[in-house]
Amino acid sequence: MFSDTAETYDTVVVLTTLGMDYWWKYRLMKAVPADREYRRILDLACGTGISTLKIAERFPNSEIVGIDITKSYLDVATEKIRSRKIHNIELVHMPVEEMAELPGEFDLVLGSFVPKLVDLESLAAGCDMKLSPHGVVVLHDFIVPTSWLLRLGFRTYWLLVQSFMRMRKGWRETSQNLFRIIWESNWQQDLRNALERKGFTDFFSETQPLQVARILRAVHPG
Ligand SMILES: C[S@@+](CC[C@H](N)C(=O)[O-])C[C@H]1O[C@@H](n2cnc3c(N)ncnc32)[C@H](O)[C@@H]1O
Repeated sequence: MFSDTAETYDTVVVLTTLGMDYWWKYRLMKAVPADREYRRILDLACGTGISTLKIAERFPNSEIVGIDITKSYLDVATEKIRSRKIHNIELVHMPVEEMAELPGEFDLVLGSFVPKLVDLESLAAGCDMKLSPHGVVVLHDFIVPTSWLLRLGFRTYWLLVQSFMRMRKGWRETSQNLFRIIWESNWQQDLRNALERKGFTDFFSETQPLQVARILRAVHPG
């Protein structure tokens, strides 16, 4: 779905979220408990590395692994990591659904714009298999507002976004598919249920301004 959009992704995400992506990533990092050590960190669907680089900035001594299914996005991320001379990030071309095949355990699993796109049972099972005891998972994604007024605003805004995206190479179908997926997804409840079935506890969720995105955090059983 994303393969023709790697070169323009970083600009498009800032423009189409009106800069709110900066805030969401900031809140995502803020939701990571500060009272523990994270030796190994996994960034799910790391894309062009926007979140991966923020993780590396906050945890310069951790070992960070980013996985993504789109090779062209990983190529952009690789170039950023190389040009900034960052040495603690490894990128792996693989789907989130196969994260259990990664070697070793992680103390923290993060992901921005991920849950709506992936199989949530596999995601919960992967977190269960790969997180260390008391390891933390923090995920962020779009949601559809519950208030009818904000829903109307959200729908109207996406129509404007889609008109804008029609003119951008590779984005026409991607933007249409994205809207359909966001509108149909109930990821926050479905993921919470899937994680609960795996014994995760200490759930925390934070709805972002205008009810258009949410952050969900949970802790792996010990
Ligand atoms: C909207 S981008 C988000 C990228 C990055 N997390 C960020 O916040 O900028 C969505 C990413 O999910 C990746 N993706 C979609 N489905 C995936 C899957 N099943 N496994 C791994 N990556 C996936 C896409 O390749 C794309 O890079």
